[in-house]
Amino acid sequence: MTIIPPRYHITTFGCQMNKADSERMAGILDQMGYIPSENPNDAKIILYNTCTIRDNAEQKVYSYLGRQAKRKQQQPDLTLIVAGCVAQQEGEALLRRVPELDLVMGPQHANRLQDLLEQVFNGNQVVATEPIHIVEDITKPRRDSQVTAWVNVIYGCNEHCTYCVVPGVRGLEQSRTPEAIRTEMEQLGQQGYKEVTLLGQNIDAYGRDLPGVTAAGRNQNTFTDLLYYVHNIPGIERIRFATSHPRYFTERLIKACAELPKVCEHFHIPFQSGDNQVLKAMARGYTHEKYRQIIDKIRALMPDASISADAIVGFPGETEAQFENTLKLVEDIGFDQLNTAAYSPRPGTPAALWENQVSEEIKADRLQRLNHLVAVKAAERSQRYMSRTEEILVEYTNLKNAAQVMGRTRGNRLTFFAGDINQLQGKLVKVKITEVRPFSLTGEVMQFAEVR
Ligand code: SAH
Ligand code: SF4
Ligand code: F3S
Repeated sequence: MTIIPPRYHITTFGCQMNKADSERMAGILDQMGYIPSENPNDAKIILYNTCTIRDNAEQKVYSYLGRQAKRKQQQPDLTLIVAGCVAQQEGEALLRRVPELDLVMGPQHANRLQDLLEQVFNGNQVVATEPIHIVEDITKPRRDSQVTAWVNVIYGCNEHCTYCVVPGVRGLEQSRTPEAIRTEMEQLGQQGYKEVTLLGQNIDAYGRDLPGVTAAGRNQNTFTDLLYYVHNIPGIERIRFATSHPRYFTERLIKACAELPKVCEHFHIPFQSGDNQVLKAMARGYTHEKYRQIIDKIRALMPDASISADAIVGFPGETEAQFENTLKLVEDIGFDQLNTAAYSPRPGTPAALWENQVSEEIKADRLQRLNHLVAVKAAERSQRYMSRTEEILVEYTNLKNAAQVMGRTRGNRLTFFAGDINQLQGKLVKVKITEVRPFSLTGEVMQFAEVR
């Protein structure tokens, strides 16, 4: 009889950071000899990589976890793991809430999964949430895509936005060295990856914690310097990055993006609110005028650049007039995409304790009005693509139509066109746009061969 190695299952909630962490944890489990499984009910090791940015994200985790905890009562040899931001926030309290758990591990501990699992297999219930220096990863991540890859450049966040749990759960900023980042990207290029997205919660903070200040007092390790340092890696055709912070965003960065051909014309710069008083209460450190200036400067140098952002409605104390300032900003700027959310009070954050909370009804109403405007503006922005020839990097088959493939424009618009994925995956293709929708496009191939 052959012995089938046990299977593991990972469900990932939350942002790109969590997705990148999950890919590294999957890589560790692969190296330990386990086999991935899509279905948690087939798996011996079940890992939930969790998000706590809003209450509904957190509650989702508990319902998934409840089902597996029940299963474990019948099958005690299951290993149940909660990783990520809920794990960090709740720590020991999670074990009291779900005693079936074997391992609770915060995001800074993702690269230590093997070590932590060994402690579990020795019969311990383990909680790993103490702040640590993140060790450089030595395992190969199991990446979901064969075409695009995430590369962390800075972990954590030192800001104090009054609504946000991220600094509490991701810890203080830790930049990776330019050399480590470049080496990872070179390996990706050799493996055939074509696009890299550089990740940080506040990517403009990159390098603040690294040595590299010149005699003139200038830091030579800024994010802009990093872009110049990694832009020419063989095989990597496109470079993206997220998330930019308006408080630290520089003109030098815009110039670098305009100058470096591989850096895509897309900026993700959350503004959160279009009202200066709300921005102040959020402790964001900029005004809507400053935000508008940034966008003006981008558009002066890169007229076609796509702009996306995040915004919150119903922050404590937000009046109708203040909310309308957010609508006005969205109307004036015309975002290609906007992630919107109703404010959710989070444990351990200052704004959660304020008495001027906005009712759920008003939040829901504002969210709906904002989303409507976002779709109208995105549809207008999509019009500029009509009949244009765009460069698409082909990623997958269109899930809803197997005769089509899907990829993205340099500006990050999803684009579908007829084609065979076996022939086209990972190729840069010139596509003429024949149909536009608010958040996606359809086109026809102009040129099958790789563009570059
Ligand atoms: N570092 C990024 C955002 C990280 S969190 C930045 O500074 O913009 C992703 C988004 O979630 C935020 O941009 C914000 O719009 C939203 N968000 C964060 N905390 C929230 C809360 N308590 N309620 C509602 N939305 C929230
Ligand atoms: Fe949260 Fe603000 Fe840090 Fe973004 S910059 S992760 S919103 S604290
Ligand atoms: Fe969520 Fe943690 Fe990301 S709270 S949004 S997974 S940093």
